[in-house]
Amino acid sequence: MAIPDLGELLADGIRGRRVFVRADLNVPLRGDAVADDTRIRASLPTLHRLLDAGARVVVASHLGRPKGRRRPELSLRPVAPRLAQLLGTGVSFCPECVGERAAAAVAELGEGELLLLENLRFHAGEEENDADFARALADLADAYVNDAFGTAHRAHASTVGIAACVERKAGGDLLKSELEHLRGIREPVRPLLVILGGAKVSDKLAVLEALAPHADTLAIGGAMAYTFLASGGRRVGASLVEADRFADARRVTLAARATGRRLLLPSDHLAVERVEAGAPTRVVREIPDGWIGVDIGPETARDYAREAGEAKTLFWNGPMGIFETREFAAGTETVATGVAQSPAYSVVGGGDSVAAINQLGLGPQISYLSTGGGASLEYIQGLALPGVEALSR
Ligand code: 3PG
Repeated sequence: MAIPDLGELLADGIRGRRVFVRADLNVPLRGDAVADDTRIRASLPTLHRLLDAGARVVVASHLGRPKGRRRPELSLRPVAPRLAQLLGTGVSFCPECVGERAAAAVAELGEGELLLLENLRFHAGEEENDADFARALADLADAYVNDAFGTAHRAHASTVGIAACVERKAGGDLLKSELEHLRGIREPVRPLLVILGGAKVSDKLAVLEALAPHADTLAIGGAMAYTFLASGGRRVGASLVEADRFADARRVTLAARATGRRLLLPSDHLAVERVEAGAPTRVVREIPDGWIGVDIGPETARDYAREAGEAKTLFWNGPMGIFETREFAAGTETVATGVAQSPAYSVVGGGDSVAAINQLGLGPQISYLSTGGGASLEYIQGLALPGVEALSR
């Protein structure tokens, strides 16, 4: 399905027009400073093109999950100075995203100027895709550009509802680039290796079910692996396990087998008695009673890295353990290095895995770092993304 092109929107003439850009500026904050500006940087190309064309650019995003309430710690205000610094131009901020105050701020915008609106999710209408809220957003716009790939899997007012209210619309450069790069995972050169980590089977069940028969090899790490192992009768000690997901884990395992795919689980683990920095660690094959798995073991890490070297296409999402704690980070680091050194077409998605790659300075060796966590997982499963569909209607 063709997405209306930003180039065509610009060619039609956009000077002096109000362009509402839905970006994904959902970035981690430390106090009131931006802790990681990857998503802000990723949104710059589209913003530069619009500003250079003389548009009056109105940028909107969500931050966190305030659930329809105004939460000062989830204000987008700290993003404005960082965005200004990276764009090399002034950015004004409006502490509202709809209504008179927002309208007045937009009216003050000159050609080639940019305004950042307050967190869309301070209003319940955003996540409810409420028609009145979508209309209120559309009232600020002569044209609509969706560049929020990370939120394209959400059918919200600023990603779906607004698109029906504004005639002139386009997909931004980031949105397009993400879809192009992730298509390489949806329609891979085989063998395709998918490395999935993270804490819970329940969070990733849909993606596990979809990828077990799609990936030639699915390698599982993180606490999710303990649910798989325990469902097959292995000892996992006091590790995080979702007993109510054993049946799901068995079904995923059978789905992989039935289609001749491989599902790999850790053969060894790093375990501790207390999950805290400095706690004594042991490498074990079966986790003893009272011990807790916090990382894949060195043998598993080497195996997964070797698999990465043999794949032609590879996708990684989710850390292999509690990598924020230095002593529990070796598994994630070995896998990250294996992914980076692989000659395969490689895509890494999800905040934690991308952070691990960046911490190790391996970003330039990855074919593509996706800004989407949930969105990239949904897309590679073959699901339609509501935010993309809405642009094409
Ligand atoms: C993300 O961080 O994955 C996106 O910004 C979407 O956020 P959400 O999961 O809160 O909808």
